[in-house]
Amino acid sequence: MDQNQKKICAAEEAVKYVKENAVLGVGTGSTVNYFIDRLEPIKDKIKGAVSSSVASTKRLEAMGIKVFDLNDVDSFDIYVDGADEINPEMDMIKGGGAALTREKIVAAVARKFICIVDDTKVVDVLGKFPLPVEVIPMAREYVARELTALGGRPVYREGCVTDNGNHILDVHDLKITEPKKLEQTINAIAGVVTVGIFGRRGADVLIVGTDNGAKVTE
Ligand code: 5RP
Repeated sequence: MDQNQKKICAAEEAVKYVKENAVLGVGTGSTVNYFIDRLEPIKDKIKGAVSSSVASTKRLEAMGIKVFDLNDVDSFDIYVDGADEINPEMDMIKGGGAALTREKIVAAVARKFICIVDDTKVVDVLGKFPLPVEVIPMAREYVARELTALGGRPVYREGCVTDNGNHILDVHDLKITEPKKLEQTINAIAGVVTVGIFGRRGADVLIVGTDNGAKVTE
């Protein structure tokens, strides 16, 4: 199986978690796009979705799925999203698609985070994938200096403006052995909107697409 087939395999397994009449939390990215596409046969059985990006909203609405404003939804059962890396403790790096802030917000409201990935995303230690950090534009250089002081090598993602009008720094050369601690440290830098470490709110269910089918860890 190639990487896309493994993403499809994980996405199809996640559809099994969708309950009738539910509001779904929906993430962002190519793996999630496969998940959205596979909602087609059951789209009339769900109430709708809460989306983590303009891109996912457009895809859901194009399929005829109602997208709710998060402020109008108290809580919901599952949030399905991909990741750039995930470790055995279910801490993740996210934000490769620049949607990390809204992803973190929607994930915070969901009762269960279902992470869908192909097996290249599963790692022992986070950090090989450059860590995305969303920053307020005027703070970009200041935050970059602070991230350098923490041992990283921040690179400005040229031409990328997030759905919230902010910039992204991708931090290379980090070996993230204490994800929850580093998440807190980076979040405390003035001008940081969100760091792409999802440790304080990690995944509850991991579905990995592999050559031997979907491997589920709960
Ligand atoms: C977007 C994300 C995505 O979940 C992450 O980048 C994985 O994307 P893909 O499924 O395309 O590999 O965090 O901000």
